[in-house]
Amino acid sequence: MSGLAIETASLSKTYGGTTALADLSLSIPTGSVYGFLGPNGAGKTTTMRLLTTLSKPTSGEAWVMGDPITDRNAVVSRVGYLPETPPVYDELTAREQLAYLADLRGLPAGERERIEPLLERFALTDAADDAIRTYSKGMRQKTALAGTVLQDPDVVFLDEPTSGLDPRAARTVRDLIADLAAEGRTVFLSTHILPVVEELADTVGMMNEGRLVAEGAPEELKRRAAAGTERTLEDVFLDVTDESAWEPPAVADTGE
Ligand SMILES: Nc1ncnc2c1ncn2[C@@H]1O[C@H](COP(=O)(O)OP(=O)(O)O)[C@@H](O)[C@H]1O
Ligand SMILES: [Mg+2]
Repeated sequence: MSGLAIETASLSKTYGGTTALADLSLSIPTGSVYGFLGPNGAGKTTTMRLLTTLSKPTSGEAWVMGDPITDRNAVVSRVGYLPETPPVYDELTAREQLAYLADLRGLPAGERERIEPLLERFALTDAADDAIRTYSKGMRQKTALAGTVLQDPDVVFLDEPTSGLDPRAARTVRDLIADLAAEGRTVFLSTHILPVVEELADTVGMMNEGRLVAEGAPEELKRRAAAGTERTLEDVFLDVTDESAWEPPAVADTGE
């Protein structure tokens, strides 16, 4: 695999008078993990919704695996998307939810064979026949993630995937992200939790008020900002974003 998995050119989105995203230009190589950082309201979710064709840009262009986002069918067939609040159906079991998604997406029989190994991979096999309403937040998130990768997507968009998870569930999710990248997929991950991107991302993009304000490898960003002192990615982040909007990382995600 080579080339760019995600490319955007001056991608912009306004809602009435609000500029949610301004002139975003990205070039993300296939098989890399891109960490999209920014405080609340920075434009992260807006970007993901544009790239997964759930909303339309006000101006600018974007391509996913070479297909323009205006070609909805082409793009949707290549991407998996985990929204900030994933839709899981309380009355279904995890196994039923995945079977339902397989039906909805018209997956061929061969791809349905992925359901059981996915349940296993997410340690959901024992609970696979219990209603999702009885699950912990981590189990719900893992069920949603299994649904996101069910279709074997080339590009995976994960919006705050470890937010609010306990350390064990957060670890499982981080391991899965590393696995997805090792399999040659591209992962586009938004988070406000810095250790997650420091550990996983090849490249970090820092957003503030709809604009990309810094971009580079985590080590490179730290070096660039270093100026003789030891700097962390968090220092860089606080410099380039609005400090008053910053929320400290959840305790559950800072371990390990
Ligand atoms: N559907 C919408 N209608 C109006 N404003 C929106 C809508 N979606 C997002 N916004 C605004 O766009 C900005 C960026 O939001 P969002 O992309 O959700 O940020 P983030 O995901 O980084 O927290 C915010 O000011 C938000 O209020
Ligand atoms: Mg968001």
